[in-house]
Amino acid sequence: MILARTVAEVRERVAGARGEGKVVGLVPTMGFLHEGHLSLVDVARQGGADFIVVSIFVNPKQFGPSEDFGRYPRDEAGDRKQLEAREVDVLFLPDASAIYPAGFSTSVHVGGVTARLEGQRRQGHFDGVATVVLKLFDIVQPDLALFGRKDAQQCAVIERMVRDLDIPVRLIFAETVREGDGLALSSRNSYLSAEERALAPALHRGLKAGENAIVHGVDDVGEIERLMQRIMSETARVEIDYVEVIDPQTFDRPEDFHRDLMVAGAVKLGRTRLIDNIRITRDRIPHAKIAPR
Ligand code: PAF
Repeated sequence: MILARTVAEVRERVAGARGEGKVVGLVPTMGFLHEGHLSLVDVARQGGADFIVVSIFVNPKQFGPSEDFGRYPRDEAGDRKQLEAREVDVLFLPDASAIYPAGFSTSVHVGGVTARLEGQRRQGHFDGVATVVLKLFDIVQPDLALFGRKDAQQCAVIERMVRDLDIPVRLIFAETVREGDGLALSSRNSYLSAEERALAPALHRGLKAGENAIVHGVDDVGEIERLMQRIMSETARVEIDYVEVIDPQTFDRPEDFHRDLMVAGAVKLGRTRLIDNIRITRDRIPHAKIAPR
């Protein structure tokens, strides 16, 4: 695995691979890698990439002033070892000045899909994500780029940006990787104390109850949300930020139950904020099955 720290280095490596006719896959990450990230490398290969670039950059622009930028977990040596083992071709590990040189004053704003949920609670977060992801796309110019579905709203933002700006990249969104008890893998799980870790699956349990209600024909959004809240609240110390039934295209309330739906939630456990979601495809929703497309 080649370690590239500058834009010029990574571009040179990618140009070499392209010269050999390789298909370039990009996996953008903020490091402290877990199996969820590593599965993106595998999915990139399955998607046809035979030259994989993983970037690790803890992007300051996507953290609010009261968020965890300073304490975000970092483990460069451990990450390098795991990527070597997965036979990644290039690790792009820029420092902040390589991504945001002095005087940097551009920001990408994606409207619409950012209006609610994470976008509403984390002001400026998705501008930071869109800005860095567009920059990474410009640096690497990948054929495919991989993101995890745990950050479903982030996937929707990037998809919108790619469409709106005609960015020539194929996006692949990979399934969330979970622990045996349902907790979605996340670098932030490392903040949880042992006690909090034991309580954390409450988020997924609540969402599963919502999914179950939908696939069994419940079509009252309020009823489903109350059910999910009740399940999550059964676990002490879980503070619900939001738990909603949404349209995964718009991240707004669904107009009806004749299309794909999503249940999405965010909770706090102590100082740790966890998010998760489950997508429910139209073919599993009783009302959608009988409704015209
Ligand atoms: O999902 C993440 O880890 C980050 O938001 C991303 C896409 C790498 C941008 O910084």
